[in-house]
Amino acid sequence: MSAPRQPWAIKRWDVYAPHYDRWVAFERQRRRSLALADLQPGERVLLDGCGTGLDLPLVPPGLEIDAVDLSTGMLALARCRAAGLNARVQVMDAQSLRFPAHTFDCVVLHLIVAIVPDPLQCLREAVRVLKPGGRVVLFDKFFHGPGKPRLIRRLLNPFLKLAATDLNVPLPRLAAEAGLVIVHEEPAWLRGMFRVVRLEPKTRSSASAE
Ligand SMILES: C[S@@+](CC[C@H](N)C(=O)[O-])C[C@H]1O[C@@H](n2cnc3c(N)ncnc32)[C@H](O)[C@@H]1O
Repeated sequence: MSAPRQPWAIKRWDVYAPHYDRWVAFERQRRRSLALADLQPGERVLLDGCGTGLDLPLVPPGLEIDAVDLSTGMLALARCRAAGLNARVQVMDAQSLRFPAHTFDCVVLHLIVAIVPDPLQCLREAVRVLKPGGRVVLFDKFFHGPGKPRLIRRLLNPFLKLAATDLNVPLPRLAAEAGLVIVHEEPAWLRGMFRVVRLEPKTRSSASAE
């Protein structure tokens, strides 16, 4: 399936790249998400939509890392962070990954699902590239309530989407459609608007629940 065309959606990140690390840190939340991933030595991990690579120094040693993003500006900084690590950094669309099925033990989705034009396709691709026994960890903002988002969120959303991010991605529904089960979820920032989540492919989670 071809990914939606998105010239401004990518260009803006080239524009933001030189300033990104001054605005965004979230080290505590990144560490918590990576702890939930329970990464083991020798495993292969995908930093999907890796940006400037803020996660790279936080990944435990002894892992094989692939880091992908569509913005060459962001990736230039990620390449500096990857120096000396067992990490490959590549230009790639999170909605159509150029990895074979069953490649990774863990896919890390930090601040990417609410950014891509097609979050469901991004989640489906994460599922496709997971090995059996693999898991997804996610740190992002999304709408998780029943009903509709509050009026203020609906009014702000078109502007925020144009600038950077969607506030109202319905993660629980999209995860289920992508074949993922949320096995752990916790508030991470802004009264739980940002959350840290561990997800696993449905077959394994439902089998272990039986
Ligand atoms: C908010 S930043 C998050 C970066 C990083 N994951 C972090 O936690 O700091 C969003 C990133 O998604 C990237 N991005 C947007 N659309 C993408 C796509 N379709 N495929 C891959 N990366 C994409 C942007 O270039 C940007 O680097």
